[in-house]
Amino acid sequence: MNVVILAAGQGKRMHSDIPKVLHALAGKPLLAHVIAAARELSPQRICVVYGHGGEAVREAFAARDAAAAPPGAGRQAAIAWVLQEPQLGTGHAVMQAAPHLVEGVPTLVLYGDVPLIRAATLKRLCAAAGAGMAVLTVELDDPQGYGRIVREGGAPSGAIVRIVEQKDASPAEQAIREANTGVMVVPTAKLKAWLAKLSNDNAQREYYLTDIVALAVADGVPVAGAQPHALAETLGVNSRNQLAELERIHQLRIAGELMGRGVTLADPSRIDVRGELACGRDVAIDVNCVFEGAVALGDRVTIGANCVLKNVRIAEGTRVEPYCHMEDADIGARCRVGPYARIRPGTVLAEEVHVGNFVEVKASSIGRGSKANHLAYIGDSEVGRNVNVGAGTITCNYDGANKHRTVIEDDVFIGSDTQLVAPVRVGRGATLGAGTTLTTDAPPDQLTVSRVKQVSIRGWKRPAKKK
Ligand code: UD1
Ligand code: CA
Repeated sequence: MNVVILAAGQGKRMHSDIPKVLHALAGKPLLAHVIAAARELSPQRICVVYGHGGEAVREAFAARDAAAAPPGAGRQAAIAWVLQEPQLGTGHAVMQAAPHLVEGVPTLVLYGDVPLIRAATLKRLCAAAGAGMAVLTVELDDPQGYGRIVREGGAPSGAIVRIVEQKDASPAEQAIREANTGVMVVPTAKLKAWLAKLSNDNAQREYYLTDIVALAVADGVPVAGAQPHALAETLGVNSRNQLAELERIHQLRIAGELMGRGVTLADPSRIDVRGELACGRDVAIDVNCVFEGAVALGDRVTIGANCVLKNVRIAEGTRVEPYCHMEDADIGARCRVGPYARIRPGTVLAEEVHVGNFVEVKASSIGRGSKANHLAYIGDSEVGRNVNVGAGTITCNYDGANKHRTVIEDDVFIGSDTQLVAPVRVGRGATLGAGTTLTTDAPPDQLTVSRVKQVSIRGWKRPAKKK
């Protein structure tokens, strides 16, 4: 099959410098959602018709395609980009794509600003078409603005005879509540012939793609109607308000799926998944969490309120307390993280690690059972097992020009307010006294302390204010 995605509309009502189809829903461009649905049908060709600001769209997707398709990944139809300039209507848009369409397989028309369309609905539409043509329609209480589906005898069971646009419709036709969604599937050779016959002799002086319905009927090609699983699949984005509405509809659907698979959500209307969230059994997620990229939560993981997790794997039984920010990290089983922890890229925590409030970890591994419970920075470090990192401990990993590593071996105890000036190593079982600034390696099993000797001055008086 060929897929043509219409995306040349300007999107004036977004009041934006960004082309409409590049606005994000669930963290990815509207157009990417449509392309993903199209790809589920394994089409031979995908053709995107772009217009105003379209170079930006093209460039954004060239970058995405390169990033998303590792060499050797399944063969996917490359996207053919077709410029429509000026924009003279949906029929004119498809005419620009026509030279790219393979004959002998049908052509499916989608809109780049209708992001929630689902492959299951498209398959149903194609099934309804058979060797003929089919249009996706919806019954609306208020069909104002839509093209109307005119059926033989005006009966819902009557054959579809044509589509009339709102601005060309008679009062009787305006009373029809069955609306055209714009999605249709058409035999390709016939489509090309019908496109060549379109005229713009209508109220909007546009070449209407919808006019091919009457041409099909005149040619004896039956036009079937099919309906989507949900109305939301056919809603377009023309404004920020509609974008926000569709975002919430989409998120509620994801939330519903998560709950359906056994995840507890404190409030399904307060979760945002901008990527893939995989959950084990009995996972519980509190309110206002954001999941980006690929996040995997093992059995019995709990996520506290207001956490942001991006590309993170968390093994079973780990508790993430509220207000944690985690990115590109691998968290072991039965850990406790947060509240208020910042886990930065390259963090690997083994099992039963505790990372507490206002602790930042970056490009570091922390061994089993180790704890950094308060106010610490652990960067470019290798921390062994059963290490206790005191409050206020900082690895000084950066000398202003280069980063250096810190190694802390098993069973080390680090007193509070300690600085480890990297590169430096703390031997197994060593203790660092509170307040130590460690600049050379600390030997195993000994107490190392660098501290000005404490003095008390007898008879000392605080300065008094001059009269
Ligand atoms: C179109 C349909 C109408 C249907 C409605 C559903 C026609 C003539 N009318 O209305 O029956 O009920 O969609 O929303 O097809 N586009 C281009 N190039 C153009 C014009 C439009 O690429 O020259 C794209 C737009 O970016 C958009 C889509 O086509 O993605 C639909 O355009 P829009 O103007 O929103 O729809 P209408 O023509 O009003
Ligand atoms: Ca229009």
